[in-house]
Amino acid sequence: MTSLTYKIAGRPCRIVVGSSLGKTLSILLRETVGNGRLFVLCDANVFALYHKGIEKQLSRFSPMTIVVPSGESTKSASQANGLQSWLIDSGISRNDFVLAIGGGVTTDIAGYVASTVLRGVRWGAISTTLLGMVDAALGGKTGINHSAGKNLIGTFWQPSFVVCDTDYLHTLPAREYRAAYGELLKYAALTGGKTMNQIIRLVTTESVSANDLKEVIVACVQYKMAIVKKDERETGSLRMRLNLGHTFAHAIENTLGYGKLLHGEAVTLGLFAAAELSRSIHPTSLRALNEWQSVVKQVMTTIPKRRLDPVRLLNAMQSDKKRIEMSVRFVLLDRPGKPIFVRGIDMVLVRQALTAMMVAWEK
Ligand SMILES: NC(=O)c1ccc[n+]([C@@H]2O[C@H](COP(=O)([O-])OP(=O)(O)OC[C@H]3O[C@@H](n4cnc5c(N)ncnc54)[C@H](O)[C@@H]3O)[C@@H](O)[C@H]2O)c1
Repeated sequence: MTSLTYKIAGRPCRIVVGSSLGKTLSILLRETVGNGRLFVLCDANVFALYHKGIEKQLSRFSPMTIVVPSGESTKSASQANGLQSWLIDSGISRNDFVLAIGGGVTTDIAGYVASTVLRGVRWGAISTTLLGMVDAALGGKTGINHSAGKNLIGTFWQPSFVVCDTDYLHTLPAREYRAAYGELLKYAALTGGKTMNQIIRLVTTESVSANDLKEVIVACVQYKMAIVKKDERETGSLRMRLNLGHTFAHAIENTLGYGKLLHGEAVTLGLFAAAELSRSIHPTSLRALNEWQSVVKQVMTTIPKRRLDPVRLLNAMQSDKKRIEMSVRFVLLDRPGKPIFVRGIDMVLVRQALTAMMVAWEK
C-alpha cells in the first residue's frame, strides 16, 4: 500500500493506493467522520456488485446510503438537486461526512453536492475505476454538465481522502478500463521519461502485474497532486497543462451527445489531434513524440467508430474556449515531458489536426 498526504487549501488530503484496503478505509473513516454521520453516494453498478462488502465495511458508522444512477447523464442539475434534497431532508449537518463510491461520474457529482450543501460538507471517495484513480477522483474539481458544455457547473472542493483499491478493477468492464488509457497517455505525454515508458508498457501489454499497475497509479497521483498543490484553482498555467487533449475531447463529447463515447475515449482522440496540432505549429520530428503518438493511435483503433462533424467540432471548441477565457491558449507538446501553451492558433490548423485524427481513427 502507498499512502500519500497533501495539504491543499489548508486541509490535508490523504490518497491511498493498493489492494485489500478495507482496514485502511475503516481507519480513514474513523479519523475523518469522527462523531458525525456518514452519508454514502454509491454508483448503481458498484452497489449491485459490492453492496454486501460495503455494508459490512461501513456498518459501524450506520451510514445513510443512496444509489446514484450510472452514466454521464447523471452529472446533471436535476440529479444534483435530488441528492442535495436527500441530504437536507435527512438532516445533514456541517459535522457530517459524504462518501462517494464509484467512478468519475459519482465522485464529480458527489463532490459537487458535498461542496454546495450547507456551503460545504467534508467528503471522501472510494474510486472504483482506473480513470478515477489516476485522475477524476484527485484534485478536488467537482462538477456537473450543462447543456452548453461539459463540466461547466462546479466547484473546487478537496476530498479528505481518496482510496484507490485496485481490487475493484477486476469487475470493471474492459471498455471502461481501456477508457482510462486516454488519461494515462495524457500523463505519459506530460511526464515523459520513466513514467511515460511505464504507462506505455501498461497500455500496450495484455497482462499487467498488480505491482506495475499500482506503480503507474501512484506516479499519476504524484504528478497530478504536485500540480494541484501549487495551482489548486488553475489560476496559473500549471494545472491547465492537465487539460492536454481535453479541448478536443470536450468538443467531441459535446457534439456527439454524452454517452456516445466514454470520456477517456474522447480524451484519446483529443490527444492524437493535440499531437498533430503540436507538430503543425511547432514542427518537430522528435522520435519520442512520434512514438507516443503511435501508441495513442494504437489505442484509438479499439474505440468504437462514430461519425464526427468537423464544423460542429470547431464551433464547439471555439465557444468552449471563449466561455472559459482560454481563447488565446492551447496546451500542446514541445515534446513528451514538455507541455507548451500556444496563443492565437489559426483555426485552419485546428481543423487539419481534427481531420488527421478522424482519418487515423477510420483506419
Ligand atoms: N474531476 C476531475 O478532475 C475529472 C477528471 C477526469 C474525468 N472526470 C470525469 O470523470 C467521468 C468519467 O469517469 P469514469 O471513467 O470513472 O466513468 P464512470 O464513473 O461513468 O464509470 C464507468 C462505468 O463503470 C461502472 N463502474 C464503476 N466502477 C466499477 C467497478 N469497479 N466494477 C464494475 N463497474 C464499475 C460505472 O457504473 C459506469 O457504468 C467523466 O464525467 C469526466 O468528466 C473528472
